[in-house]
Amino acid sequence: MRKTIIAGNWKMYKTIAEAIELANGLKRELFKLNSQEIDIIICPAFTALTEVAEVIVDSNIQLGAQDIHWEDEGAFTGEVSALMLKDVGCKFVIIGHSERRQYFGETNESVNKKIKAALKHNLTPIVCVGETLQERESGETFKVLDDHIHNGLKDISDTDILKIVIAYEPVWAIGTGKTATSQQAEEAQKYIRDLLRKVYNNDIADLIRIQYGGSVKPENITELMSQPDVDGALVGGASLGVEIFTEIVKRASEVVK
Ligand code: 13P
Repeated sequence: MRKTIIAGNWKMYKTIAEAIELANGLKRELFKLNSQEIDIIICPAFTALTEVAEVIVDSNIQLGAQDIHWEDEGAFTGEVSALMLKDVGCKFVIIGHSERRQYFGETNESVNKKIKAALKHNLTPIVCVGETLQERESGETFKVLDDHIHNGLKDISDTDILKIVIAYEPVWAIGTGKTATSQQAEEAQKYIRDLLRKVYNNDIADLIRIQYGGSVKPENITELMSQPDVDGALVGGASLGVEIFTEIVKRASEVVK
């Protein structure tokens, strides 16, 4: 059985004071959930990581970041390394988000280097894959998933792949309010798992967690989580409020598979 994993991607929202308030609220509302049964992760902007880490220390909420650079240090203005994220208390890092692919030139090659850097420092990469609307409409969804999985995860060993979480985020469903139907999510996520069967093996494919992301809200989380290959969610907009994110996490934790 795969442990449920719900992560909030705060994107470029929240000042430090707002981030502290949100983290405190989530800690208060979610403390009863068993961390053996569910991974709850929040990924604030770099500027708020230190303060949020202090709030959630000794809680059942874990810290993640939204990106990394693949080198440990160097003359890379504006970048933050895996080593630095570890230093601040991160356990997870989102890699290859479609917004980074779309606006900041992220490629499968850079995704691959970042995954390896994260693993080197014991950070769990949440690797995002998914097609655009145009790609879906021209019937290229599976081709895009093939490309993201084969090239993004290139040369990742059997041992290391088990330390990775995959997030299927169809770009057309992100921030649009247009969620993939649970059938569309399941179809794509089963496809990803079957790819992993071919590249690795059945045992490995059955252990890897695959999240769905794209307009997840309290109203659709139960239906999405009920799908056999949906092991969790990567939540954007609905992770920015205490009540709404709490509701998503609680409903996800109640789905029995
Ligand atoms: P929304 O939940 O706002 O659609 O964003 C999804 C996402 O990009 C999470 O990484």
